[in-house]
Amino acid sequence: MRAEAMVSELGAISAEPDRLVRLFLTPEHRRAADRVADWMCKAGLAVSEDALGTVRGRLEGQGKRRLLIGSHIDSVIDAGKYDGVFGVIAGILAAEHCRDKRLPFGIDVLAFGDEEGSRFPVTLSSSSACAGVFKPEMLAQEDRNGVTLADAIKAYGKSPADVPAAAYRLDQAAAYVEVHIEQGPVLEARNLPLGVVTAINGQTYLNAEFLGEAGHAGTVPMRLRRDALAGAAEAILLGETLARESNGAAVATVGRVAVAPGAANVIPGNAVAVFDIRSGDEPARATLVEALKSGLRAIAARRHLGLTVTSTREVATTPCDPHIQDQFADAIRALGTEPLRFGSGAGHDGQAMAKLCPIGMLFVRCRGGISHNPMEYASPRDLGLAVAALIGFIERFEPGRLSG
Ligand code: GLV
Ligand code: MN
Ligand code: MN
Repeated sequence: MRAEAMVSELGAISAEPDRLVRLFLTPEHRRAADRVADWMCKAGLAVSEDALGTVRGRLEGQGKRRLLIGSHIDSVIDAGKYDGVFGVIAGILAAEHCRDKRLPFGIDVLAFGDEEGSRFPVTLSSSSACAGVFKPEMLAQEDRNGVTLADAIKAYGKSPADVPAAAYRLDQAAAYVEVHIEQGPVLEARNLPLGVVTAINGQTYLNAEFLGEAGHAGTVPMRLRRDALAGAAEAILLGETLARESNGAAVATVGRVAVAPGAANVIPGNAVAVFDIRSGDEPARATLVEALKSGLRAIAARRHLGLTVTSTREVATTPCDPHIQDQFADAIRALGTEPLRFGSGAGHDGQAMAKLCPIGMLFVRCRGGISHNPMEYASPRDLGLAVAALIGFIERFEPGRLSG
Protein backbone atom coordinates (compact mmCIF):
# COMPACT_ATOMS: atom_id res chain seq x y z
CA MET A 1 0.00 0.00 0.00
CA ARG A 2 1.20 3.49 -0.90
CA ALA A 3 1.17 5.13 2.54
CA GLU A 4 3.08 2.22 4.07
CA ALA A 5 5.73 2.32 1.30
CA MET A 6 6.16 6.07 1.78
CA VAL A 7 6.46 5.67 5.57
CA SER A 8 9.18 3.07 5.04
CA GLU A 9 11.00 5.28 2.56
CA LEU A 10 11.27 8.16 5.04
CA GLY A 11 12.01 5.65 7.82
CA ALA A 12 15.24 4.78 6.02
CA ILE A 13 16.53 8.36 6.28
CA SER A 14 18.54 8.41 9.48
CA ALA A 15 21.76 9.81 10.93
CA GLU A 16 22.69 6.30 12.09
CA PRO A 17 22.72 2.99 10.22
CA ASP A 18 21.19 0.87 12.99
CA ARG A 19 18.52 3.11 14.44
CA LEU A 20 16.25 5.93 13.34
CA VAL A 21 17.56 9.34 14.40
CA ARG A 22 16.35 12.34 12.39
CA LEU A 23 16.84 15.59 14.24
CA PHE A 24 15.71 19.11 13.42
CA LEU A 25 17.83 21.05 10.88
CA THR A 26 20.31 18.23 10.26
CA PRO A 27 21.36 16.70 6.94
CA GLU A 28 18.81 13.91 7.56
CA HIS A 29 16.06 16.50 8.03
CA ARG A 30 17.17 18.02 4.70
CA ARG A 31 16.97 14.64 2.92
CA ALA A 32 13.55 13.84 4.37
CA ALA A 33 12.29 17.34 3.49
CA ASP A 34 13.50 16.91 -0.09
CA ARG A 35 11.67 13.59 -0.34
CA VAL A 36 8.48 15.14 1.01
CA ALA A 37 8.80 18.10 -1.39
CA ASP A 38 9.14 15.68 -4.29
CA TRP A 39 6.00 13.78 -3.24
CA MET A 40 4.11 17.06 -2.87
CA CYS A 41 5.16 18.16 -6.35
CA LYS A 42 4.05 14.85 -7.86
CA ALA A 43 0.73 15.21 -6.02
CA GLY A 44 0.17 18.51 -7.84
CA LEU A 45 0.93 20.78 -4.86
CA ALA A 46 2.94 24.00 -5.14
CA VAL A 47 5.92 23.53 -2.83
CA SER A 48 7.73 26.09 -0.71
CA GLU A 49 9.82 26.02 2.46
CA ASP A 50 9.92 28.55 5.29
CA ALA A 51 12.76 29.78 7.52
CA LEU A 52 12.34 26.89 9.98
CA GLY A 53 12.51 24.31 7.17
CA THR A 54 8.78 23.54 7.20
CA VAL A 55 7.86 22.14 3.79
CA ARG A 56 4.52 23.45 2.54
CA GLY A 57 2.51 21.92 -0.27
CA ARG A 58 -0.28 24.16 -1.49
CA LEU A 59 -3.46 23.24 -3.32
CA GLU A 60 -5.43 26.29 -4.39
CA GLY A 61 -9.17 26.33 -3.72
CA GLN A 62 -11.95 28.69 -4.63
CA GLY A 63 -11.90 30.76 -1.44
CA LYS A 64 -9.03 32.59 0.26
CA ARG A 65 -9.14 30.50 3.42
CA ARG A 66 -7.00 27.43 3.81
CA LEU A 67 -7.31 24.15 5.64
CA LEU A 68 -3.87 23.36 7.10
CA ILE A 69 -3.03 19.66 7.35
CA GLY A 70 0.26 18.78 8.95
CA SER A 71 2.54 16.75 11.14
CA HIS A 72 6.31 16.38 11.60
CA ILE A 73 9.28 14.66 9.98
CA ASP A 74 11.78 14.91 12.85
CA SER A 75 12.14 11.91 15.16
CA VAL A 76 13.10 10.96 18.67
CA ILE A 77 16.37 9.06 19.15
CA ASP A 78 15.87 5.40 18.18
CA ALA A 79 12.42 6.16 16.84
CA GLY A 80 9.66 4.25 15.16
CA LYS A 81 8.95 5.21 11.55
CA TYR A 82 5.26 6.25 11.82
CA ASP A 83 5.33 9.03 14.44
CA GLY A 84 4.71 12.30 12.58
CA VAL A 85 5.71 11.00 9.18
CA PHE A 86 2.40 9.24 8.58
CA GLY A 87 0.46 12.47 9.23
CA VAL A 88 2.44 14.31 6.55
CA ILE A 89 1.93 11.44 4.09
CA ALA A 90 -1.80 11.23 4.86
CA GLY A 91 -2.05 14.97 4.14
CA ILE A 92 -0.25 14.61 0.80
CA LEU A 93 -2.37 11.63 -0.29
CA ALA A 94 -5.61 13.34 0.75
CA ALA A 95 -4.66 16.60 -1.01
CA GLU A 96 -3.75 14.67 -4.14
CA HIS A 97 -7.16 12.99 -4.05
CA CYS A 98 -8.83 16.43 -3.82
CA ARG A 99 -6.73 17.95 -6.60
CA ASP A 100 -9.52 18.19 -9.17
CA LYS A 101 -12.41 18.73 -6.77
CA ARG A 102 -12.56 22.57 -6.85
CA LEU A 103 -12.93 22.80 -3.08
CA PRO A 104 -14.33 26.04 -1.60
CA PHE A 105 -11.09 26.41 0.42
CA GLY A 106 -7.39 25.82 -0.26
CA ILE A 107 -5.28 23.14 1.41
CA ASP A 108 -1.74 23.56 2.74
CA VAL A 109 0.06 20.35 3.73
CA LEU A 110 2.75 21.18 6.29
CA ALA A 111 5.77 19.01 7.17
CA PHE A 112 7.18 20.47 10.40
CA GLY A 113 10.69 19.65 11.61
CA ASP A 114 10.61 20.28 15.34
CA GLU A 115 7.84 18.43 17.13
CA GLU A 116 9.95 16.06 19.18
CA GLY A 117 12.30 18.61 20.74
CA SER A 118 15.07 15.98 20.48
CA ARG A 119 17.74 18.45 19.43
CA PHE A 120 17.08 21.75 21.26
CA PRO A 121 15.59 22.22 24.74
CA VAL A 122 12.61 24.02 23.18
CA THR A 123 10.16 22.37 20.86
CA LEU A 124 7.36 23.15 18.38
CA SER A 125 9.48 25.99 17.02
CA SER A 126 8.49 25.27 13.42
CA SER A 127 4.74 25.12 14.10
CA SER A 128 5.08 28.14 16.44
CA ALA A 129 6.55 30.09 13.52
CA CYS A 130 3.58 29.15 11.30
CA ALA A 131 1.19 30.09 14.10
CA GLY A 132 2.94 33.46 14.57
CA VAL A 133 3.91 32.67 18.19
CA PHE A 134 7.62 31.92 17.71
CA LYS A 135 9.51 33.53 20.57
CA PRO A 136 12.80 35.17 19.43
CA GLU A 137 14.53 33.92 22.60
CA MET A 138 14.15 30.40 21.20
CA LEU A 139 16.96 31.31 18.76
CA ALA A 140 19.53 31.37 21.57
CA GLN A 141 18.75 27.82 22.75
CA GLU A 142 21.67 25.44 22.30
CA ASP A 143 21.82 21.79 21.34
CA ARG A 144 24.12 19.30 23.13
CA ASN A 145 27.06 20.52 21.03
CA GLY A 146 26.53 24.17 21.87
CA VAL A 147 25.04 25.03 18.45
CA THR A 148 22.30 27.63 18.82
CA LEU A 149 19.00 27.35 16.99
CA ALA A 150 19.94 30.56 15.12
CA ASP A 151 23.18 28.98 13.87
CA ALA A 152 21.42 25.73 12.96
CA ILE A 153 18.90 27.71 10.87
CA LYS A 154 21.79 29.39 9.04
CA ALA A 155 23.61 26.09 8.52
CA TYR A 156 20.36 24.77 6.98
CA GLY A 157 20.58 27.61 4.44
CA LYS A 158 17.86 29.79 6.00
CA SER A 159 17.80 33.08 7.84
CA PRO A 160 16.45 33.75 11.36
CA ALA A 161 15.35 37.16 10.06
CA ASP A 162 12.78 35.38 7.86
CA VAL A 163 11.05 33.60 10.77
CA PRO A 164 8.25 36.20 11.12
CA ALA A 165 7.36 35.74 7.43
CA ALA A 166 6.52 32.08 8.14
CA ALA A 167 3.41 33.13 10.09
CA TYR A 168 -0.03 32.61 8.58
CA ARG A 169 -2.43 35.50 8.74
CA LEU A 170 -5.41 34.89 10.99
CA ASP A 171 -7.83 35.35 8.10
CA GLN A 172 -5.97 32.78 5.96
CA ALA A 173 -5.99 29.79 8.28
CA ALA A 174 -9.43 28.24 8.64
CA ALA A 175 -8.27 25.28 10.75
CA TYR A 176 -5.34 22.95 11.40
CA VAL A 177 -5.86 19.20 11.41
CA GLU A 178 -3.44 16.35 11.94
CA VAL A 179 -3.54 12.59 11.51
CA HIS A 180 -1.22 10.74 13.89
CA ILE A 181 -0.72 7.25 15.24
CA GLU A 182 -2.28 7.06 18.70
CA GLN A 183 0.97 6.17 20.49
CA GLY A 184 -1.13 4.60 23.25
CA PRO A 185 -3.29 1.53 23.86
CA VAL A 186 -6.86 2.92 23.82
CA LEU A 187 -7.95 2.11 20.24
CA GLU A 188 -6.37 -1.33 20.24
CA ALA A 189 -8.10 -2.21 23.52
CA ARG A 190 -11.45 -1.26 21.98
CA ASN A 191 -10.64 -3.02 18.70
CA LEU A 192 -11.15 0.18 16.72
CA PRO A 193 -8.91 1.51 13.93
CA LEU A 194 -9.57 5.24 14.28
CA GLY A 195 -10.32 7.76 17.00
CA VAL A 196 -11.10 11.45 17.41
CA VAL A 197 -8.94 13.53 19.74
CA THR A 198 -10.77 15.72 22.24
CA ALA A 199 -7.73 17.60 23.62
CA ILE A 200 -3.94 17.42 23.77
CA ASN A 201 -2.61 17.10 27.31
CA GLY A 202 -0.61 19.95 28.83
CA GLN A 203 3.08 19.53 29.56
CA THR A 204 5.81 20.94 31.80
CA TYR A 205 9.54 20.33 31.46
CA LEU A 206 11.58 20.97 34.59
CA ASN A 207 15.37 20.86 34.53
CA ALA A 208 16.57 20.05 38.05
CA GLU A 209 20.30 20.62 38.44
CA PHE A 210 21.89 19.35 41.66
CA LEU A 211 25.31 20.68 42.63
CA GLY A 212 27.41 18.63 45.01
CA GLU A 213 31.11 18.09 45.38
CA ALA A 214 33.16 15.78 43.20
CA GLY A 215 35.53 13.59 45.18
CA HIS A 216 37.42 10.31 45.33
CA ALA A 217 35.04 7.33 45.29
CA GLY A 218 37.42 5.31 47.44
CA THR A 219 38.43 7.78 50.12
CA VAL A 220 35.57 10.16 51.00
CA PRO A 221 33.54 8.68 53.89
CA MET A 222 29.84 8.25 53.13
CA ARG A 223 28.75 10.74 55.79
CA LEU A 224 30.89 13.51 54.27
CA ARG A 225 29.70 13.16 50.71
CA ARG A 226 27.63 15.62 48.72
CA ASP A 227 26.68 13.33 45.86
CA ALA A 228 24.68 15.22 43.23
CA LEU A 229 23.54 12.08 41.42
CA ALA A 230 22.21 10.46 44.61
CA GLY A 231 20.12 13.63 45.09
CA ALA A 232 18.86 13.44 41.50
CA ALA A 233 18.05 9.74 41.94
CA GLU A 234 15.91 10.52 44.98
CA ALA A 235 14.23 13.30 42.99
CA ILE A 236 13.42 10.92 40.12
CA LEU A 237 11.73 8.50 42.51
CA LEU A 238 9.82 11.38 44.08
CA GLY A 239 8.49 12.34 40.61
CA GLU A 240 7.36 8.75 40.07
CA THR A 241 5.66 8.60 43.46
CA LEU A 242 3.81 11.90 42.99
CA ALA A 243 2.55 10.83 39.56
CA ARG A 244 1.41 7.44 40.90
CA GLU A 245 -0.39 9.19 43.74
CA SER A 246 -2.30 11.34 41.21
CA ASN A 247 -4.30 8.18 40.39
CA GLY A 248 -4.03 8.49 36.65
CA ALA A 249 -4.52 12.27 36.49
CA ALA A 250 -0.88 12.96 35.59
CA VAL A 251 2.28 11.23 34.43
CA ALA A 252 5.91 12.13 35.16
CA THR A 253 9.05 10.86 33.46
CA VAL A 254 12.78 11.47 33.61
CA GLY A 255 14.22 10.29 30.32
CA ARG A 256 17.42 12.24 30.41
CA VAL A 257 20.05 12.59 33.11
CA ALA A 258 23.41 14.27 32.67
CA VAL A 259 26.12 13.47 35.24
CA ALA A 260 29.47 15.19 35.66
CA PRO A 261 32.27 14.45 35.71
CA GLY A 262 30.87 11.02 34.73
CA ALA A 263 33.62 8.68 35.87
CA ALA A 264 33.01 5.45 37.81
CA ASN A 265 35.56 6.35 40.49
CA VAL A 266 34.47 9.95 41.06
CA ILE A 267 31.59 11.05 43.31
CA PRO A 268 29.25 12.99 40.97
CA GLY A 269 29.61 16.73 41.52
CA ASN A 270 26.79 17.72 39.20
CA ALA A 271 23.62 15.99 38.02
CA VAL A 272 20.79 17.28 35.88
CA ALA A 273 17.48 15.41 35.62
CA VAL A 274 14.89 16.57 33.08
CA PHE A 275 11.30 15.97 34.28
CA ASP A 276 8.52 15.65 31.69
CA ILE A 277 5.17 16.10 33.46
CA ARG A 278 1.86 15.79 31.60
CA SER A 279 -1.83 15.87 32.29
CA GLY A 280 -5.10 16.74 30.59
CA ASP A 281 -6.19 18.24 33.91
CA GLU A 282 -4.52 21.63 34.40
CA PRO A 283 -4.93 21.81 38.22
CA ALA A 284 -3.53 18.25 38.53
CA ARG A 285 -0.43 19.20 36.53
CA ALA A 286 0.07 22.41 38.53
CA THR A 287 -0.30 20.53 41.82
CA LEU A 288 2.21 17.89 40.79
CA VAL A 289 4.71 20.49 39.56
CA GLU A 290 4.47 22.47 42.82
CA ALA A 291 4.79 19.33 44.98
CA LEU A 292 7.80 18.21 42.94
CA LYS A 293 9.50 21.61 43.21
CA SER A 294 9.11 21.71 46.98
CA GLY A 295 10.25 18.08 47.24
CA LEU A 296 13.36 18.89 45.19
CA ARG A 297 14.18 21.74 47.56
CA ALA A 298 13.79 19.45 50.57
CA ILE A 299 16.05 16.79 49.02
CA ALA A 300 18.72 19.38 48.19
CA ALA A 301 18.59 20.90 51.69
CA ARG A 302 18.82 17.52 53.45
CA ARG A 303 21.76 16.46 51.27
CA HIS A 304 23.53 19.85 51.39
CA LEU A 305 23.34 20.19 47.63
CA GLY A 306 22.90 23.27 45.51
CA LEU A 307 19.79 23.21 43.33
CA THR A 308 18.61 25.15 40.28
CA VAL A 309 15.20 24.38 38.83
CA THR A 310 14.25 25.85 35.46
CA SER A 311 11.14 25.28 33.38
CA THR A 312 12.04 24.87 29.69
CA ARG A 313 8.59 23.95 28.45
CA GLU A 314 5.14 24.96 29.60
CA VAL A 315 2.25 24.05 27.31
CA ALA A 316 -1.36 24.24 28.44
CA THR A 317 -3.89 21.52 27.65
CA THR A 318 -5.21 22.28 24.17
CA PRO A 319 -8.83 21.45 23.33
CA CYS A 320 -9.78 20.27 19.85
CA ASP A 321 -12.58 22.20 18.16
CA PRO A 322 -15.95 20.46 18.83
CA HIS A 323 -17.19 20.95 15.26
CA ILE A 324 -13.96 19.51 13.78
CA GLN A 325 -14.35 16.57 16.18
CA ASP A 326 -17.90 16.01 14.88
CA GLN A 327 -16.75 16.17 11.25
CA PHE A 328 -13.97 13.65 11.89
CA ALA A 329 -16.49 11.46 13.75
CA ASP A 330 -18.92 11.61 10.80
CA ALA A 331 -16.12 10.74 8.36
CA ILE A 332 -15.11 7.74 10.50
CA ARG A 333 -18.70 6.56 10.86
CA ALA A 334 -19.13 6.75 7.08
CA LEU A 335 -16.33 4.16 6.84
CA GLY A 336 -18.43 1.81 8.99
CA THR A 337 -16.44 2.14 12.19
CA GLU A 338 -17.18 3.73 15.57
CA PRO A 339 -15.44 7.06 16.26
CA LEU A 340 -14.11 6.78 19.80
CA ARG A 341 -13.25 10.17 21.36
CA PHE A 342 -10.43 10.60 23.86
CA GLY A 343 -7.54 12.85 24.85
CA SER A 344 -3.95 12.72 23.59
CA GLY A 345 -1.28 11.98 26.13
CA ALA A 346 1.41 12.81 23.56
CA GLY A 347 2.32 16.31 22.45
CA HIS A 348 1.63 17.52 18.90
CA ASP A 349 2.15 20.52 16.62
CA GLY A 350 -1.54 21.31 17.14
CA GLN A 351 -0.57 22.75 20.53
CA ALA A 352 1.20 25.59 18.72
CA MET A 353 -1.24 25.79 15.80
CA ALA A 354 -4.15 26.25 18.23
CA LYS A 355 -2.78 29.75 18.89
CA LEU A 356 -3.63 30.51 15.24
CA CYS A 357 -6.87 28.69 14.48
CA PRO A 358 -9.20 25.87 15.61
CA ILE A 359 -7.52 22.46 15.55
CA GLY A 360 -8.53 18.83 15.32
CA MET A 361 -6.81 15.44 15.29
CA LEU A 362 -7.52 11.95 14.04
CA PHE A 363 -5.79 9.02 15.75
CA VAL A 364 -4.84 5.70 14.15
CA ARG A 365 -4.49 2.48 16.13
CA CYS A 366 -0.92 1.32 16.65
CA ARG A 367 0.17 -2.12 17.79
CA GLY A 368 0.50 -2.54 21.54
CA GLY A 369 0.21 1.23 21.90
CA ILE A 370 3.98 1.27 21.35
CA SER A 371 5.65 4.47 20.15
CA HIS A 372 8.97 6.31 20.55
CA ASN A 373 10.39 2.86 19.98
CA PRO A 374 11.49 1.07 16.78
CA MET A 375 8.75 -1.52 17.44
CA GLU A 376 6.12 1.11 16.52
CA TYR A 377 3.66 -0.35 13.98
CA ALA A 378 0.34 0.52 12.36
CA SER A 379 -1.20 -1.81 9.81
CA PRO A 380 -1.43 -0.79 6.14
CA ARG A 381 -5.20 -1.30 6.40
CA ASP A 382 -5.51 1.16 9.30
CA LEU A 383 -3.29 3.66 7.49
CA GLY A 384 -5.57 3.39 4.45
CA LEU A 385 -8.66 3.92 6.61
CA ALA A 386 -7.04 7.00 8.14
CA VAL A 387 -6.36 8.54 4.71
CA ALA A 388 -9.96 7.75 3.70
CA ALA A 389 -11.25 9.38 6.91
CA LEU A 390 -9.13 12.48 6.27
CA ILE A 391 -10.57 12.72 2.75
CA GLY A 392 -14.07 12.29 4.22
CA PHE A 393 -13.29 15.07 6.68
CA ILE A 394 -12.08 17.42 3.90
CA GLU A 395 -15.29 16.74 1.98
CA ARG A 396 -17.32 17.68 5.06
CA PHE A 397 -15.19 20.63 6.12
CA GLU A 398 -17.03 23.95 6.40
CA PRO A 399 -14.65 26.76 7.38
CA GLY A 400 -17.58 29.01 8.30
CA ARG A 401 -18.90 26.76 11.06
CA LEU A 402 -15.94 26.68 13.44
CA SER A 403 -15.78 28.21 16.88
CA GLY A 404 -12.39 29.90 16.32
C1 GLV B 1 6.23 14.07 21.33
O1 GLV B 1 6.00 13.04 20.73
C2 GLV B 1 5.95 14.15 22.72
O2 GLV B 1 4.79 14.00 23.10
O3 GLV B 1 6.90 14.27 23.50
MN1 MN C 1 4.53 12.94 16.87
MN1 MN D 1 6.89 11.67 19.04
